[in-house]
Amino acid sequence: MKIDILTLFPNMFEGFKTESIIKRAIEKGKVEINIIDIRDFTPYKNNQVDDYQFGGGGGMIMMCEPVFNAVEKIRTKDSHVILLTPRGKTYNQKKAYEFKEKKHIIIICGHYEGFDERIYSLADELVSIGNFILTGGELASMMITDSVVRLIDGVITSTSLEYESFNDNLLDYPVYTKPRVFRGMEVPEVLVNGNHALIKEYREKERRRITKEYRDDLL
Ligand code: ADE
Repeated sequence: MKIDILTLFPNMFEGFKTESIIKRAIEKGKVEINIIDIRDFTPYKNNQVDDYQFGGGGGMIMMCEPVFNAVEKIRTKDSHVILLTPRGKTYNQKKAYEFKEKKHIIIICGHYEGFDERIYSLADELVSIGNFILTGGELASMMITDSVVRLIDGVITSTSLEYESFNDNLLDYPVYTKPRVFRGMEVPEVLVNGNHALIKEYREKERRRITKEYRDDLL
């Protein structure tokens, strides 16, 4: 799978690609992630990519040409072009599974006051990550990429995906590690007695209890 992220701020992605699970997924060849600088595609002098809006009003608007040039250079028939904007449908785990099946994803990150309206015509899909406004799409693109890459076969152990939060709309069960007693708080007995049928039953019950307690809107 290939993910191309179009941005005006490539440096924001440095740690993202060079740490932990995403780094290993890239090294193992499970995913190719390219951070593409939209400025490299502007036809204007001084790397200009934004300008004032017609009709007046504050803030700079991202111009059409650099974004169109970039998308048209990298898009193929297998590409799915996602534009990040508060206008989009809210992203969720179901979408993450859907995006995981794509061969090539292009994510366009906006910045400043917004995109020139004509840029929306490039998108196959508009996506928002929540009902709040970010300074740009960069963090949103990292969230989406992160959630998709971890679903790719062989990126994390498949047992980690089996019972995790939001599959079947239940949150994950509680987990513990050493020490068995910490400041008087004990690891539940069932988890240390080695009876796997009981452990499975306990975890199923706990998923329901935790979801009801913290997120009963999911039930
Ligand atoms: N750009 C600005 N705010 C955003 C949001 N909530 N989701 C996606 N992209 C955005």
